[in-house]
This record gives sequence, structure tokens and C-alpha cells, in this order.
Amino acid sequence: MTFTLTPSAQTHSDDCSVEDLLDLSFGLGRRTKTSYRLREGSRPVEGLSQVIRDSELGLAGAISYWPLVIGKTFAPAILLGPLAVHPARQNLGIGRALMNFTLERAKANGHKLVLLVGDAPYYERVGFQKLPAGLLQLPGPVDPARFLFLELVPGALKGVSGMVLPPQRQAELSAAFAKPHG
Ligand SMILES: CC(C)(COP(=O)(O)OP(=O)(O)OC[C@H]1O[C@@H](n2cnc3c(N)ncnc32)[C@H](O)[C@@H]1OP(=O)(O)O)[C@@H](O)C(=O)NCCC(=O)NCCS
Repeated sequence: MTFTLTPSAQTHSDDCSVEDLLDLSFGLGRRTKTSYRLREGSRPVEGLSQVIRDSELGLAGAISYWPLVIGKTFAPAILLGPLAVHPARQNLGIGRALMNFTLERAKANGHKLVLLVGDAPYYERVGFQKLPAGLLQLPGPVDPARFLFLELVPGALKGVSGMVLPPQRQAELSAAFAKPHG
């Protein structure tokens, strides 16, 4: 076996390999996706950027999460993704291992609500569900069938609604609205 299912922390020296893996998995057009608008101006959530190393390929898989703020109540959440597994190592449990490890850690670190845009049949296996239609809006087009949530704490979605944004964008908008007009 050229890898084990034990994730390790992504380091700066992994950054280029992770980008290469994401290009391989999602194609070069990946940055035009709405999920990328949700990462603008943010750093990944501390402790949740994890990789599976592979003695042959370098990296077999990678996952990261990004901070979000929702609606007028500024409800916090985290965005899962990108999650990518090298084409030569798919269907061997790497994606699930990366999710299980990081979702458990996210919960232990006090995060309550996770959002993602992705294939429901895959993510439903770890408990994600489709969001109720119209409850949350994203800063770009999204197929509602792919807009998913997971409550790490039961009831975390209750009372949450509105636009989902990266914290910096939300702060810029709040500042713009707070300015006196004229
Ligand atoms: C999607 C991805 C992360 C899954 O990782 P993985 O390590 O290959 O998956 P796992 O080994 O954890 O799980 C494999 C199981 O999930 C299923 N599965 C894999 N991708 C799936 C998808 N997109 N939709 C539904 N089921 C999927 C497999 O059929 C397999 O099912 P089985 O257990 O019944 O045999 C990986 O295939 C990948 O990086 N793909 C390229 C990017 C992509 O297509 N992303 C789409 C999801 S947003």
C-alpha cells in the first residue's frame, strides 16, 4: 500500500501539490465556480486543511474548509471543500476518511454548521442534506440540489437565513450600508 487512511496537516510545502491535485480533479475552470466566491479574502479554517500522503503520488487526497457568515444575524458556518482524491486512488475510502477526520475535529473545535456545494449522493453518506429551497442564497449561481448542509450541533440551522458570504465581504457590505448617504 502506498498510503494509509490517516490524514495529516497540510503544510506550506504541500500548497503547490494541492493546487495540482485540484486542477486534475476539477479542471482549470474550477475557479469560476460560486464556491470560489465564498473563499475570497479568507484563509482556510485552522486545523481543517488535511491531506493523505502517498509514497508514489505525493498526495492522494486533500480537503479544506473556509469561514462563512450568514444573513443579518451573521450566523457563522464553515464551507467544506474543495475535497479531491487523486484519480488513481478513488473509491478506496480516502474521501470518506478525510471527511470523517475533519468533521469530527470541526465539531471538537466548536464549529456548528457546515455548508457545501457538491454531489448529494456522495455527501449524504456522511449526513449532509439538501438545504430547504430559498433558505440561503449564494453570491453566484448554484444548483439547489447540490447546495447541502450538515449540523454538527443539532438545531444549528434553526433561525438561520439569508446571504452566505465570506466574512471579509460581509464586513465590507456592512460598512458600505453603515455610511451616511449624501
Ligand atoms: C468525489 C471524491 C471526493 C470521492 O472520493 P473517494 O475517495 O473516491 O470516495 P470514497 O472512497 O470515500 O467513497 C467511494 C464511494 O462513494 C461513491 N462515490 C464517489 N464519488 C461519487 C459521486 N460523485 N457521487 C455519488 N457517489 C460517489 C463511490 O461510488 C463509492 O461507492 P461504494 O462505497 O458504494 O462503492 C473523488 O472521487 C474526487 O475527488 N472526484 C473528483 C472531484 C469530483 O468529481 N467531485 C464531485 C463531488 S463534489
